[in-house]
Order: sequence, then C-alpha cells, then structure tokens
Amino acid sequence: MDFATLSVHAGRRVDSTTGSILPPIHQTATYVLEAVGTTRGYDYSRSSNPTRAALEENLAALEGGNHAICFSSGMAAVDAITRLLRHGEHIVSVDDVYGGVSRLFNRVLSRSGITVRYVDGTSASAVSAAITAQTRLIWIETPTNPLLQLVDIAEVARLARNRGILVAVDSTFATPYLLRPLELGADIVVHSTTKYLSGHNQVIGGACITNGQAVCDELRFIQKSVGAVPGPFDCWLTLLGIKTLPLRMEQHQRNARLVAEYLEEHPKVARVLYPGLPSHPQHALARLQQRGFGGMISFELAGGYDAAVELMNSVRLCSLAESLGAVETMITHPASMTHADVPRHERELRGVTNGLVRLSVGIEAATDILADLEQALARVSASPEERRA
Ligand SMILES: Cc1ncc(COP(=O)(O)O)c(C=O)c1O
Repeated sequence: MDFATLSVHAGRRVDSTTGSILPPIHQTATYVLEAVGTTRGYDYSRSSNPTRAALEENLAALEGGNHAICFSSGMAAVDAITRLLRHGEHIVSVDDVYGGVSRLFNRVLSRSGITVRYVDGTSASAVSAAITAQTRLIWIETPTNPLLQLVDIAEVARLARNRGILVAVDSTFATPYLLRPLELGADIVVHSTTKYLSGHNQVIGGACITNGQAVCDELRFIQKSVGAVPGPFDCWLTLLGIKTLPLRMEQHQRNARLVAEYLEEHPKVARVLYPGLPSHPQHALARLQQRGFGGMISFELAGGYDAAVELMNSVRLCSLAESLGAVETMITHPASMTHADVPRHERELRGVTNGLVRLSVGIEAATDILADLEQALARVSASPEERRA
C-alpha cells in the first residue's frame, strides 16, 4: 500500500461493538481476566494497551519495520536504546545531535560506565576511525538538529555490518515520509513523535522501530520494566495526527523552500542551512537519500547574537518556542534553548553559534510567514555598529 494510505489506515480496526471508525481510547490501567492465566491479550497497561498497540502497528508500517515500541517521550525512546549497552561499552555518535541526547550521553550514561565519542557525521571515514572493539552502537541523527547536516546511512551501516554494532537513526526531522532508515541498513529508527508525527503540538511521545526480533524483545522488556510508556489518549492523539502526515510534510517543505530562498537573498542573513538549497554542502546526498527536504531551516544573522535576539523578539506570526514539526511556524534560538546544556566551546566548535536561529516552518500560507519574517528582519540592526548608533 502507498504511504498515504498506510498513514490513514495502518493499525486501524473498526470497533467491533460500536462500528466507531476511530479506535477506542482504552483508558484503563488493567483488564479483567476470564480465569487465572487466561487473558484476552492484555493484563496491565504498562505491559500493553490496545490503543498503544494500534499506534505501534501504524508506526511499524510507516517505517517498513516489523516492530514499533512506543515510549512516553522521544528521550525515553533514546534512553531505552542506550539500555541495550553494558558497562564498558562504547557509542560512536554524530557530533551535531539534539542537546537533550548529548545531555543524556554525557551526564547520565557516563554514570553507567558507557563512553561516547563524537565525530563529524558527514564523514564516514571519521565514523570508521572512531570505532573500537568496545563499540556497540553508532548513533546517527539525520538531518541533524540544528545544523541540518546529513549522514549517509547506507555507508555507515556498511561499517557496522557483521561487527556486532547496532546502528540507530534519530529520524525525527525527516519522518518516514521523507526517509526510511531501515531500508538503508539501520537497525533501529527512533522518533520524537512529539514533532512531525503527531504534528499539532498536542502531545509528548517517542518510538523505536526495528526489524530485528532480538532488539525488539529487548526494547519491549525495557519498555515494560522501566515503564516510560505513553498514555492511551496520547497514543490516540498521535494516531490522529499521523493520518495527515503526508499532506502536512508536503506543505511544510513547499513553504520551507520559499523561506530558505528568501533568507538566502536577504542582506542581513549570513548563511542559510537547508538541504533543499543547491548551496547546502550535502544537497546531492539529500536528493539521493530523502524523498524531499523537509520543513526545518537554520540560518545565521550577520549581526550575530544581538541580531538573533532582535529577530526572535520581533516575530508576530512565528512562535518563539522550543519545539518543531507542528503546524505552527516556530522559531528557536538553539544556543539558549534546545542546546543550552551543551558547553559553549563545544557548541561553537560545532557551528552552533550564538547567532544561529532555527526555524520550523509551519503549514500556514507562505505569504504570511514571509511577511512576518520581512517585518521582523526590518527591525534587526544590520551590524553591531548600527545597533550602537
Ligand atoms: C532530534 C530530536 N530527537 C529527540 C528529541 C527528544 O524528544 P522529546 O522532546 O519528545 O523527548 C528531540 C526534541 O526536541 C529532537 O529534536
């Protein structure tokens, strides 16, 4: 079936008692057994729940995977994957990762004796050189947050093959509509379903999708044992959001292209990072690996930090908010918001400068988004000298 059809139908069963076209929200903690040892497939909602099962079935179908395991947040899904590792084992991670992921790696995982080496994910040879005998996981984010770098998944998966190393891909920015990491050789796909998948800023959630039975069994065991599970209503809201994912992604990327082209021509903008622009260093890989270029843009103002703050305080339609992937256009300052916990020298070394602004382009009319940016940029002083004058 086509992706658009799966988005609407995968995991859907018409309710047998009422005919309800949407799955019921099974808002229950527990289930009455018919007799000792006899269940109807469910006994306690931390272990499994029918509304969650419907979402898991839907997500597995969208990623072309056999199994999906849902969690209460994207970070809980990331955490579950790290629990596949033991003391003394090692992760090779791309260096431009979401700040919450590096915080988990640096300040929580380190307590368990698991080490992480960050490398430039755009270079397969850098990834290869960082692999040691203890490496058990390669952590990929593509496109990355916030620099929108791409990682060649097939090439990295080749490095890991037959070496007992799992490849996990955080595909939150791309969604399965644009990118299917399992088909490129990844072992696990992880999503913050908070973002494009649910799509309306209505829920916090996460998911891991895999083809491997052993990985699935371990992740299910972790899901049940740690208990970071999403509630049935959150699963239902996410399922509802996913039905329009293809439509939303098309509008997000149509708008994003227009905004990126506009910003690239603007005299107060020093650089624009958008995989759909021919100026993006990995535009060719984006064309090859993805079905489209997505709705995320990062850009740097020529006037640096002060100009970025002026811009973000001047927008009216765009929301100054710490999230992405929803219908509303959101503007974020990575250095002080999403990546505030990454030490400044490390951030700047990677290019996450204080003047960097991240835009999650929504599905409003492009003319209105452009008009808002136009009026906000008009208020931004072109240079520190102009600001002082
Ligand atoms: C790429 C990426 N991965 C993971 C997460 C964590 O997701 P959540 O906020 O749902 O825990 C985020 C959150 O912004 C993200 O941007």
